[in-house]
Amino acid sequence: MQTLTIDLKERSYPILIGAGLLADPSAFASLAGRRVAIVTNETVAPLYLARLQGTLTQVGAGVTALVLPDGEAYKNWETLNRIYDHLLAERCDRGTTIVALGGGVIGDLSGFAAATYQRGVPFIQVPTTLLAQVDSSVGGKTGINHPRGKNMIGAFWQPRLVVADTDTLNTLPDRELSAGMAEVIKYGLIRDLPFLDWLDDHMERLMARDGELLAFAIERSCANKAQVVAGDELETAKEGGRALLNLGHTFGHAIEAGAGYGVWLHGEAVAAGTVMALELSRRLGWLGEADVERVSKLFERAHLPVRGPRLGAERYLDLMAHDKKVLEGRLRLVLLKRLGEAMTYAEAPMSEIRAAIETCCE
Ligand code: NAD
Ligand code: GLY
Repeated sequence: MQTLTIDLKERSYPILIGAGLLADPSAFASLAGRRVAIVTNETVAPLYLARLQGTLTQVGAGVTALVLPDGEAYKNWETLNRIYDHLLAERCDRGTTIVALGGGVIGDLSGFAAATYQRGVPFIQVPTTLLAQVDSSVGGKTGINHPRGKNMIGAFWQPRLVVADTDTLNTLPDRELSAGMAEVIKYGLIRDLPFLDWLDDHMERLMARDGELLAFAIERSCANKAQVVAGDELETAKEGGRALLNLGHTFGHAIEAGAGYGVWLHGEAVAAGTVMALELSRRLGWLGEADVERVSKLFERAHLPVRGPRLGAERYLDLMAHDKKVLEGRLRLVLLKRLGEAMTYAEAPMSEIRAAIETCCE
């Protein structure tokens, strides 16, 4: 088991990464004698709920579980209300710990429930997708979607503990593994060139689910995320900071929304969106053609798309203007100064943004 710590003063917490942790009582020892409400979904429950319940019971926790329907479409008020209903029906009090068992949808929903139930209860993340293990379970962003926009309602609520059992990735569909890999590659691009080189050397074995290599990639990704979040927990830095984690996300958001939610996975849209951000960085003189080519190849080796749908640049810009990363009306993009070094930039000429989009569409 590898242990990392996310350093947020009194809100610091450990991230445990390893094979078989769902069945390891030592990973959950802090729950001895506590009331626990597990929130999961109908896909993950048959695979892992009994195992986690067994381990929590073994450490002496009193466990209740709620199984929700699966899908981004359920990350909404109605499902959130089902969590509150369950907690109230089970007479859960302010000492109850909510444990999210699942991918980013379950993590975001349960985290928001934890942030708001009785003004806030303890929360633990047990992520079971690659995306959740390297990104969404760490850093405390929680929330739900609104019909007018993704993740528009939410709160920062840090978990007390993250337990990433790498064995759970064995049952993950290939497409979901690829989507998570887009976020792994992101860390190399924004702040960790040696990691990007390592990913270049090992992508085929990672996609073949080599357990040791996946564990290293998860650990390194979490270490990067932990450092970024520790430096700018609430994403308020005027420049750089936590916003750098959004490389490719503003273009990606336009792809997801423009194609219709659910058609592209988030990670797929991030991959194609990242290529757009890199093409724009090249047009502004910071990257070479070979850099953009190298990263596109790496995404393709992770079975990810590198071209967006041809929606037209104006439609992209319109959709991008609705992204949360728009600050005081300005489109603040994450671009690369060089591979391994990102920055936020609000001065890119519209003509260059349009050209980068058009170049990178199917
Ligand atoms: P997801 O939660 O929808 O999971 C993907 C699919 O895999 C689902 O069908 C799920 O049931 C299934 N699944 C989960 N674990 C499995 C396993 N071990 N074996 C088999 N199937 C499994 O999607 P995701 O990619 O994990 O997360 C996406 C969500 O995360 C989005 O809502 C996004 O907004 C959010 N997100 C949040 C943050 C954050 O910082 N909070 C960061 C990135 C993304
Ligand atoms: N996924 C971006 C963040 O956590 O800030």
